[in-house]
Amino acid sequence: MAKTDQEPVLGLRGIGWCFQSLTALFIGSLIISAVYLAGERRPGLLEDETTRNNSLLGCNLFSGKWVFDNKSCPLYKERQCSFMLDDFACEKFGRRDLKYQHWRWQPHDCDLPRFNATALLEKLRGKRLVFVGDSLNRNQWVSLVCLVESSIPPGLKFRHLNGSLYTFKAIEYNASIDFYWAPFLVESNCDDPIHHHVQYRTVKIQAIEKHARHWNDADFLIFDSYIWWLEDTMKVLWGLSEEPSGGLFKEVELLSRYEMGLNTWADWLETHVNHTKTKLFFVSMSSTHLRGEEWGMGANQNCYNETEPIFEEGYWGTLSNPKMMQVVEETIDRLEMRGVKVHILNITQLSEYRKDGHPSIYRRQWVALTEEQLADPPSFSDCGHWCLPGVPDTWNELLYAYMFYY
Ligand SMILES: *[C@@H]1O[C@H](CO)[C@@H](O)[C@H](O)[C@H]1NC(C)=O
Ligand SMILES: *[C@@H]1O[C@H](CO)[C@@H](O)[C@H](O)[C@H]1NC(C)=O
Ligand SMILES: *[C@@H]1O[C@H](CO)[C@@H](O)[C@H](O)[C@H]1NC(C)=O
Ligand SMILES: *[C@@H]1O[C@H](CO)[C@@H](O)[C@H](O)[C@H]1NC(C)=O
Ligand SMILES: *[C@@H]1O[C@H](CO)[C@@H](O)[C@H](O)[C@H]1NC(C)=O
Ligand SMILES: *[C@@H]1O[C@H](CO)[C@@H](O)[C@H](O)[C@H]1NC(C)=O
Ligand SMILES: *[C@@H]1O[C@H](CO)[C@@H](O)[C@H](O)[C@H]1NC(C)=O
Ligand SMILES: *[C@@H]1O[C@H](CO)[C@@H](O)[C@H](O)[C@H]1NC(C)=O
Repeated sequence: MAKTDQEPVLGLRGIGWCFQSLTALFIGSLIISAVYLAGERRPGLLEDETTRNNSLLGCNLFSGKWVFDNKSCPLYKERQCSFMLDDFACEKFGRRDLKYQHWRWQPHDCDLPRFNATALLEKLRGKRLVFVGDSLNRNQWVSLVCLVESSIPPGLKFRHLNGSLYTFKAIEYNASIDFYWAPFLVESNCDDPIHHHVQYRTVKIQAIEKHARHWNDADFLIFDSYIWWLEDTMKVLWGLSEEPSGGLFKEVELLSRYEMGLNTWADWLETHVNHTKTKLFFVSMSSTHLRGEEWGMGANQNCYNETEPIFEEGYWGTLSNPKMMQVVEETIDRLEMRGVKVHILNITQLSEYRKDGHPSIYRRQWVALTEEQLADPPSFSDCGHWCLPGVPDTWNELLYAYMFYY
């Protein structure tokens, strides 16, 4: 396995926490088409669930609850995934409570279609799917690769990591599932996939072409961008100048700079993407569990030691900014009025419940954590990314549902 792509710790100012760079995705506006699931059912459903209305028509897949289901979850085994990354391999790095692998997302009004790796590979035959964004999108990429790779014999699949572009290929299908590192979607001084820990983040708010040329031929594009924008101060640079000192700098407030960046992205989609060919998705922000007080624990607690989801319906942590979700929704609504449909995968609420799903100290980041770090989970836990198998598998089941039924 290639030595990859770990990121330095990203400090979220004002929280005083070390946690790895997180990323986020988005909110789902549902354009519903009249599609019925042909009676597909998972094993292990409870009795009362077999009477559930099995139509996806009008069903909000993002509204639901987590149910413990060790018959149908997980969909793959951590150690059997040839392309797992150490960042997410919690079991390998010592996590002993494995309950987090056995929760299934149950929408209130329908069932999720059953994930079928062969069907997905058939859909991707001769095609290219690309995740574009930050490390949470990479988390989801690893999940999707793990979900499909066991259906492909050895020798007929490979993974290649080259700078910002990670490629997974199913050779017989000529199908690619890629990830491209662009934490702001637009260009920035954090675009190096490894060395992006900078003192002052600077975004070139109108520039995206350097990134986009790596994926403008894709058939499916899945974007995310959230957590990197949350710095107290950030410089915004106008113009396309190559020189760091060229163009105009300004400090711009959070919501405005986010909106400007997303507008650049939206304009690019409108003019450069073949809308007949390419299906577009935006994943809403992923949730972070750094502050135990928010779910009734002590002030010094975070996601470490958590073994159960939060069951309070509608629970929402303070690190998920609804105003930023709204900016995404508005950008995507405007884009739709211009004839470009982007599906929002509204994973925030369902991820919000999963305080138990993060790696905390059970992961590797460049080098293993030291004894002192392991002994200090309040300071060295990763409560942003997700263990695999785990929550991003559900994000991919939702993506799958949209690819087939919406
Ligand atoms: C996404 O889900 C949140 C929480 O359930 C909700 O407030 C928001 O309106 C949803 N957004 C869309 C676009 O569906
Ligand atoms: C199933 O869902 C559809 C669409 O929401 C609704 O019209 C129908 O009444 C529901 N059927 C049952 C049996 O709940
Ligand atoms: C699955 O969960 C049930 C209920 O918690 C438990 O009784 C059973 O032993 C578990 N089975 C496996 C294979 O873990
Ligand atoms: C999965 O999809 C393949 C290809 O469409 C199909 O042949 C197979 O029957 C499906 N498997 C299940 C369990 O539905
Ligand atoms: C393989 O897939 C790519 C898209 O990812 C396509 O451009 C190419 O034509 C395909 N090659 C063959 C031999 O089908
Ligand atoms: C890696 O990416 C660079 C830049 O896109 C490209 O020029 C080079 O051919 C790639 N190398 C491999 C081995 O694919
Ligand atoms: C857009 O994609 C469709 C379907 O693949 C194709 O038929 C059409 O020629 C493409 N249009 C352009 C302008 O490339
Ligand atoms: C974690 O849980 C163990 C066992 O319940 C307990 O001994 C330990 O103090 C807890 N650690 C933290 C940091 O909460």
